[in-house]
Amino acid sequence: MEDFSMISVMKNPKGKGLVVENNPTDYNFISKGCHGAVFKLSADRCVKIFLKNKSAAQEADAYTRIKGWTRCPKIYEVGPNYIVMEYIEGLTLEEYLKTKNYISESITKQILLILQEMKKLGFSRIDIRLHNAMVTKDDTIKVIDLVSEFHKKGSMAKRLFRGLEVLGLLDLFIAQVKEIDFKSYSEIKSLHEEFLNNRLL
Ligand SMILES: Nc1ncnc2c1ncn2[C@@H]1O[C@H](COP(=O)(O)OP(=O)(O)OP(=O)(O)O)[C@@H](O)[C@H]1O
Ligand SMILES: [Mg+2]
Repeated sequence: MEDFSMISVMKNPKGKGLVVENNPTDYNFISKGCHGAVFKLSADRCVKIFLKNKSAAQEADAYTRIKGWTRCPKIYEVGPNYIVMEYIEGLTLEEYLKTKNYISESITKQILLILQEMKKLGFSRIDIRLHNAMVTKDDTIKVIDLVSEFHKKGSMAKRLFRGLEVLGLLDLFIAQVKEIDFKSYSEIKSLHEEFLNNRLL
């Protein structure tokens, strides 16, 4: 019998993160992070196998809190060390922006909307890491990886700014916010100033 429960992950013996220890199934490996490895189950489903049950419980808890939020994958099944969720086809936001070497107004608008929605939904960390968001075929951003978003704190948008800065797109992003959503601009501007000041410390 072939089943994803036969897939195992283990702590990386050579350093940080994890490695896939065993995958006797036909499910293809998609990608991994520090907390889990993701495998494709079907055209529209994937499973994230976690290294620690605690991380799986934290991510499952996050999905319960934001049930129905259309910016994240649908959840189909939760187990002690896994979550079966909607497979989001596309590039991570980091890969997408890197490929384009440009940030469009549509992407900037969606980022602002997502940050506002995170606030309303009570996320403890209101931020977007570029590798923890996906861009679908129709250029819609979906947020993935909610292991820590209700369990850790952090300055709002700090990781977003850092990611955009590395890609050389931060100044353009800030300029676009000023242009297209002046209401958000004063908040983003002061967060940006805080980000720059902290970096100089
Ligand atoms: N629902 C999904 N659809 C498609 N790909 C996904 C999905 N969930 C995760 N992935 C891919 O698998 C990778 C690892 O997943 P995820 O970010 O959830 O793991 P993590 O271990 O919690 O990551 P981190 O190291 O950032 O904490 C993602 O960067 C993405 O490329
Ligand atoms: Mg991740």
